[in-house]
Amino acid sequence: MSRKPPPRRTAPSLAKNANPGRWEGKAKPDWLSRAIARAGVMPQDEAQEAIQAGRVTVNGRVVKQPLAPVPPGATVRVDGVALPTAAPTRVLAFHKPAELLTSTVGQHRVGTVYEVLLPQLPPDLARFTWHAVGRLDRGTTGLLLFTNDEKLVAHVTSPDTRLPKRYVATVFSEADEEKVEPLRQGLELEDGPVRPATVRLRDAHTVEVTVTEGRNHQVKRMLGAVGLPVRALHREAVGGVELDVAESGFRLLSDAEVTEGLRYPLPPAPG
Ligand code: URA
Repeated sequence: MSRKPPPRRTAPSLAKNANPGRWEGKAKPDWLSRAIARAGVMPQDEAQEAIQAGRVTVNGRVVKQPLAPVPPGATVRVDGVALPTAAPTRVLAFHKPAELLTSTVGQHRVGTVYEVLLPQLPPDLARFTWHAVGRLDRGTTGLLLFTNDEKLVAHVTSPDTRLPKRYVATVFSEADEEKVEPLRQGLELEDGPVRPATVRLRDAHTVEVTVTEGRNHQVKRMLGAVGLPVRALHREAVGGVELDVAESGFRLLSDAEVTEGLRYPLPPAPG
């Protein structure tokens, strides 16, 4: 009998409904397929299949529901092999070409960044579930980070982290110091004031803009607001991580780049 695959991304509510308040004040449980993917054993869709095939146990009992909550401290085994307790945080720097959509995990459709990134990954990286760290518009090129650690996504994209993101925009009209000055002072956009940006004119049609937030279409809207509509946009750096791979290529960041470049503390390596 074929079993209908479970709906994706509904586990938090499932965990809540199963026993409201049960996890209050404690670490929240992960759900089974996600716990396996987070541990870097296999991607989440493969984990779902392994669970439904009866290959996974939690504390010694076979569990066939991919969305079953995994209590903190539980021992999960896949084909008899226990999950490593904590997956290492990994971050990839990808050079996004134009005309690819930054989709969310689970939407690895044709025309998305995943279509170009995933086939390149060696087996030791392909086993993780990769999340894009923020978004770039379809036409925007440049540095797009991916990670297996959702907390790192939240850290890098939070405006509170104030991690600088450096863009270079090619603009239709001629830019000059007077036109870009309001960007340095801090502009008011439809969704509220934006923080002052660091702006440098590289030439009359090329403007470097560094922002410490990441709102939708922020750089284009900022430049549009000062009469400099954007023809092309490219991201050169996120925090201390500079784009240094060829278009469509990727590389794995070192732990030092993650801790210093992205200001994200990592636990000390075991041993
Ligand atoms: N700002 C934009 O306007 N677009 C992007 O893709 C990124 C930042």
